[in-house]
Amino acid sequence: MNNSLPIGIFDSGFGGLTVFRSIAQKLPQYDYIYLGDNDRSPYGDHSFETVYQFTLECVSWLFEQGCQLVILACNTASAKALRNIQQLDLPKKYPNHRVLGVIRPTAEVIGNFSSSANIGIMGTRGTVNSGSYPIEINHFFPSVNVHQQSCPLWVPLIENGEHLGKGADFFVEKYIQELLDQSDQIDCILLACTHYPLLIPKIKTYLPENIQLLSQGEIVADSLSDYLVRHPEIENKLARNGQRTFYTSGSAAVFDAHASVFLGEKIASKKIKMDS
Ligand code: DGL
Repeated sequence: MNNSLPIGIFDSGFGGLTVFRSIAQKLPQYDYIYLGDNDRSPYGDHSFETVYQFTLECVSWLFEQGCQLVILACNTASAKALRNIQQLDLPKKYPNHRVLGVIRPTAEVIGNFSSSANIGIMGTRGTVNSGSYPIEINHFFPSVNVHQQSCPLWVPLIENGEHLGKGADFFVEKYIQELLDQSDQIDCILLACTHYPLLIPKIKTYLPENIQLLSQGEIVADSLSDYLVRHPEIENKLARNGQRTFYTSGSAAVFDAHASVFLGEKIASKKIKMDS
């Protein structure tokens, strides 16, 4: 048995590190390659076609590095690119490879967190406009009402290291208020963008205490762990050296400085060039 394959983790930038952190905590034995497409992020306002093209290029690059399984640790890419990649590209070009997103595993469990059956979703414009969350959640929890709020300025605040500064307060309060104005029944809010957990300290100051705040890291890590149990044909091939390698299409120095904030540990990334 050739067990030498790393698991690929992809995000438009740093956000996926919040998911990677939980995955690496739950499954520390495996090898991982993380790719952040920082040079072309944020993805949140890009068209469907652009997010699909960028995501496919990054996933293909991770396949070339030997990953047979890639996690899209990005809601925007999961909403706009995953379906095409799974239905068009994998069967044609990579029949033995697998790509998993973060929306479905979240939708499978989120209804269990709300007693009022009213859930708030905060995400990028791309994720919200795709309608993926209401569709997926209602598939598993037909009686749950899903209220969505796009937060287009949160990712730029985070990517620029301004998320804990005074300037962030205005937009944190504004988007929370706009979501809560949609319904006074919301008792659970999902941070449906992998960047947003960095804003949790600020978000909590504007959120009524009775509203539960959820981020996806642990949900996705649990779901990956289950997936690997159900798919021994993939799990048996995974390398188990606990190695982590980080790549960015942007500046490695900038990535390393930010990544330590997201991950809570120092890293040394390598720069790669993406096509367009
Ligand atoms: N972190 C990503 C997400 O979960 C995308 C952020 C962006 O590039 O706009 O949606």
